[in-house]
Amino acid sequence: MNIHAASTDSRVPPENNRLLRALLRQPVDATPVWAMRQAGRYLPEYRKVRERAGSFMQLCMTPELACEVTLQPLRRFRLDAAILFSDILTVPDAMGLGLRMNDGEGPQFERPLRTAADVGRLAVPDPEDRLRYVLDAVRLVRRELAGSAPLIGFAGSPWTLATYMVEGGSSKEYARVKGMMFQDAVTMHRLLDINARAVTMYLNAQIDAGAQAVMVFDTWGGVLTPRDYREFSLRYMRQVVAGLKRESDGRRVPVILFTKAGGSWLEDLAASGCDAVGVDWTTDMAEARKRVAGRVALQGNMDPSILYASPGRIRQEVQIILDSYGPGPGHVFNLGHGVHQQTDPDRLGIMVDAVHELSAKFHSPAGAAAPIQSG
Ligand code: CP3
Repeated sequence: MNIHAASTDSRVPPENNRLLRALLRQPVDATPVWAMRQAGRYLPEYRKVRERAGSFMQLCMTPELACEVTLQPLRRFRLDAAILFSDILTVPDAMGLGLRMNDGEGPQFERPLRTAADVGRLAVPDPEDRLRYVLDAVRLVRRELAGSAPLIGFAGSPWTLATYMVEGGSSKEYARVKGMMFQDAVTMHRLLDINARAVTMYLNAQIDAGAQAVMVFDTWGGVLTPRDYREFSLRYMRQVVAGLKRESDGRRVPVILFTKAGGSWLEDLAASGCDAVGVDWTTDMAEARKRVAGRVALQGNMDPSILYASPGRIRQEVQIILDSYGPGPGHVFNLGHGVHQQTDPDRLGIMVDAVHELSAKFHSPAGAAAPIQSG
């Protein structure tokens, strides 16, 4: 089934579907590009709205402001996707853990989970109720974008959410969450199952509200041993993927899984049922492409620190990554992790333009005009 027929009406601006096509490994005219944390503190216009909102959570919870900061990077750069402005920790907040985002300290939960009884009291939140502000923001962003770029929804992986819920915030050693994992695996599995069900419902609600692709951020899967990764992180991401709506409005909704520092498990990720796998800069793109063997698209993988380099060096690095992936569809250019706060915004613009310019030779100009087939 076609998910997109090229518009023949010259008054209607063409839809930008490069991202959705590439995630489904369909032909494109140029490699699509977006950046994790493309909305955020490196943009002066974000800092202004953030100040107006009063707090990070207030910004997330006010759909008009969340919509505004989602669109800010697309006004500056020729990005091929918008990512909803929100946070992975809104889900545990909706479960009653009480999220506070303190300047300079990172996230903190007022009521972290420390015992089996704490986990026993948890319930899967109804997204239409406790996370309605996110869904309202999704609807608003879709209306404002009007097809100029697709909107990506997202959630944290069950394991990554569990690290924050048990530690009570960011952590260096994961002593508490790993303590629970090793001493009381039953409770840990119970928590991960609740998180998986919460994330599935939340992402499905985002899809119903208009998210056109969804991404699961497994930021801390990479701190586990290969065996524990499969049992405590991958297994629950598979559960999420299996429960997601894969079509909405007659279009395929691609699912991206990203385990930071997960390069050694690419084959497992590719076999998880997702459409695309995010790759960080510690894995070579050519090697990643060989290992996933056409089963999924790949997203990544420039080191965000390259954005501190000269424009020439940034273009050179873009070229290296594009060459490494090579010709043909199935590549979404991105950073290997989020944009750093100290980044000069103009440098991100240089990266975005370089991707479009330097990737054209790997694609055919007719690529974008062909209808998209349902994956
Ligand atoms: O990518 C985007 O532009 C969309 C917005 C987005 C945010 N957080 C906004 C944000 C997304 C996709 C996230 C995901 C997220 N949040 C992850 C997974 C991705 C990753 O970075 O690994 C994680 C682990 C979190 C948890 C989180 N949120 C932390 C650890 C922090 C504090 C770190 C920091 O930079 O201060 C946040 C806060 C946060 N989330 C900010 C933004 C823009 C900064 C807070 C502010 O503006 O005051």
